[in-house]
Amino acid sequence: MSAPSPSPVVAGAKANRGAFSGRTAFIFAAIGSAVGLGNIWRFPAVAYENGGGAFILPYLIALLTAGIPLLFLDYAIGHRWRGSAPAAWRRFKRWTEFIGWWQVLIALVIALYYALILAWATNYTFFSLDQRWGDDPDGFFGEYTQALGGADATISFDVVPAVLVSLVIVWLAVIVVMALGVQKGIAASSIVFIPLLVLMFVILVVRSLFLPGAIDGLQALFQPNWAALLDPTVWIAAYGQIFFSLSVAFGIMLTYSSYLKKKTDLTGSGLVVGFANSSFEILCGIGVFSALGFMAQAQGVAIDEVVTDGVGLAFIAFPTIISEAPAGALIGVLFFGSLVLAGFTSLISIVEVVIAAIQDKFGLARVSSTLLVCIPLAVVSTALFSTTMGLPLLDVLDKWANEYGIVAAALVSTIVVTYVVRGLPTLRDHLNHQGTFRIRTWWLVCVGVIAPLVLGASLVLSTIDLLTAPTTYEEYPGWFVLVFGWLMAIGLVVIAIGLSLIPWPAGSNLHKDDSDGDPIAPEAVAGRGLVTTPEAATPHELRSAPR
Ligand code: PFF
Repeated sequence: MSAPSPSPVVAGAKANRGAFSGRTAFIFAAIGSAVGLGNIWRFPAVAYENGGGAFILPYLIALLTAGIPLLFLDYAIGHRWRGSAPAAWRRFKRWTEFIGWWQVLIALVIALYYALILAWATNYTFFSLDQRWGDDPDGFFGEYTQALGGADATISFDVVPAVLVSLVIVWLAVIVVMALGVQKGIAASSIVFIPLLVLMFVILVVRSLFLPGAIDGLQALFQPNWAALLDPTVWIAAYGQIFFSLSVAFGIMLTYSSYLKKKTDLTGSGLVVGFANSSFEILCGIGVFSALGFMAQAQGVAIDEVVTDGVGLAFIAFPTIISEAPAGALIGVLFFGSLVLAGFTSLISIVEVVIAAIQDKFGLARVSSTLLVCIPLAVVSTALFSTTMGLPLLDVLDKWANEYGIVAAALVSTIVVTYVVRGLPTLRDHLNHQGTFRIRTWWLVCVGVIAPLVLGASLVLSTIDLLTAPTTYEEYPGWFVLVFGWLMAIGLVVIAIGLSLIPWPAGSNLHKDDSDGDPIAPEAVAGRGLVTTPEAATPHELRSAPR
């Protein structure tokens, strides 16, 4: 019954990749990745601008019809083929390896700039204590980052010392955690940081709710605009938020699930992660809008004049709130501390995508692969982003890595899995073997029809938006956007294809059994599910029916 394994196995060799101690460790790490800046500084404004209270409807539908289904897809590939993104995709179907490298390269780019936001947030946690920005947070942020704005953006290596120091600290922390490994580093830090984050954020929300004007803020956020539901862009915004927020298609969830025990309830875990992330996201909406309501009242302006997201929300609006509110220092430490914790557990997840790939490719030990990846990453990240071009570069890379990179990678993977390799039945049966939440045809429809349609529409809409806008993105010089936006995004695909053509060395994990010493499951067979056999203890032992 058993088909041959996809690649020659070095006799007796087993991969040494590390593992989560159990499902709880995995769930914490996965929530750590999902809960990030997307929750704190993206969701509140997206919800407000796309129908307020009415946005909950498309948001929940997006969670159920795309977020959770794609999460299951990531889990199934990583768990069945027990490898980093390139190894798992290659074992799923040899020629799809490039998708894995594409995910690794996107992760690499995101890691480079994501660390900068953490560095800023670390500094601002301390600045909150004495409200270092005085009465001009906007001007202060400009002085602190010395950022080249809009049309002035260019390549510059003028170092900003305050940023440099905290960026180095962030990278040192990342290196220590990653070197400790999957369980003692990644899982352990999430098990400590995620409950701490929730505790800090709950205190922040309670404090904000008692600020004058908080209720007006909440009313503005939750006031439903039902007419918005007729607008297709609102639906695309809901799916976009869910994709980003759950970290699907980044290669992260695939990598993490490859460290799970073979007998694990994947679908049940996915539901926990999906709902935990969305619950925290809604809590963030409440916290942020209570604070914005206070700010609007203090300044005597309407809420819509103070609503912002991203860098503007965190580093300009929040400092203003901290200065104006009673016990502002407490709010500051809680808010920036939360950004640091949420960001850190996301940053390590994205770095892990790269480390796991290098570890598999060369069959390395944990510490060597960590140093091999993190030292160059830290040096390049620090050299590029502790400079006056840090902010514009971050802005452009982020826009294209997310709106093009991740969305296109997700689109290509859903189409390849569903229609080209026709691997969904295999994946479905793998998930169902231990899953407490059974998936059926609806899952195939979500992954194969709904997700590609929405992802495709979103790619087309972002392209139209960018190409028809009266100015270049944020008025950056055309060449800057061309090089770091378009060419970067296209370049990653080309490099990924190149990387997928490089042979795997004999000592790589590709040629070994899994970490338990069991053989790797064979490639997916087009259109065929797995045959359930009573003696199969794990879904990895299941094989497709013979023709
Ligand atoms: N789910 C993350 C968030 O909501 O912020 C997305 C993410 C971004 C994960 C960047 C990892 C990362 F490095």
